[in-house]
Amino acid sequence: MLAVPAPYSLRPMIVADIPAVLEIDRLSFPTPATEQLFLNELTDNQLAHYQVLARGGEALAGYAGFWLIAGEIHISTIAVHPDERGRGRGEWLLLNLLLEARALDPLLVTLEVRRGNETAQALYRKYQFEEVGVRRRYYRDTGEDAVLMTVDFARQPDYDRWLALRAEAMTQTTAD
Ligand SMILES: CC(C)(COP(=O)(O)OP(=O)(O)OC[C@H]1O[C@@H](n2cnc3c(N)ncnc32)[C@H](O)[C@@H]1OP(=O)(O)O)[C@@H](O)C(=O)NCCC(=O)NCCS
Repeated sequence: MLAVPAPYSLRPMIVADIPAVLEIDRLSFPTPATEQLFLNELTDNQLAHYQVLARGGEALAGYAGFWLIAGEIHISTIAVHPDERGRGRGEWLLLNLLLEARALDPLLVTLEVRRGNETAQALYRKYQFEEVGVRRRYYRDTGEDAVLMTVDFARQPDYDRWLALRAEAMTQTTAD
């Protein structure tokens, strides 16, 4: 796990985190996830990897997750509590996720993001994700298109080095 400034820490998500995760999820997405979904992800899905950003003891500031399927990493979710946004927490979660994912030696990392979600797209672009397609009316709740974004390691051979430098820079920072 990426070392982030105290009082924050990153660690694998556990079942006891689910209530706090659901609260952040509810505050973050038009259609919130269910308890059962996270329970399945943590207990049944061998392909799933979830992490939380803890603040001090029990409080959670955010979470992220990915699946490793057929050599591809798919980012399934990432969210930061609204009170914690805009201060680098999402970047910590994404950087950590990418480091964990990279250790599994995938060919590429993919994700879908709502067309209107400029904030998330800016974060992904900062991490060198490129727009490679659109899934029309992908989100059933709002009918919004999904933008498909990827990092393709064959096309971005310096990515590991770049990620390592980002992680190194992180160790110089303090939480504000
Ligand atoms: C997307 C999300 C995780 C970003 O987390 P965050 O902690 O607010 O983001 P950070 O402070 O780490 O910012 C990292 C980068 O994101 C982008 N970003 C963050 N806030 C932004 C804003 N208000 N407008 C535009 N870009 C923004 C920038 O590229 C920023 O890098 P910079 O500071 O060098 O400009 C958070 O906004 C969130 O939880 N949103 C709701 C859930 C969601 O949409 N998840 C993505 C699903 S695909």
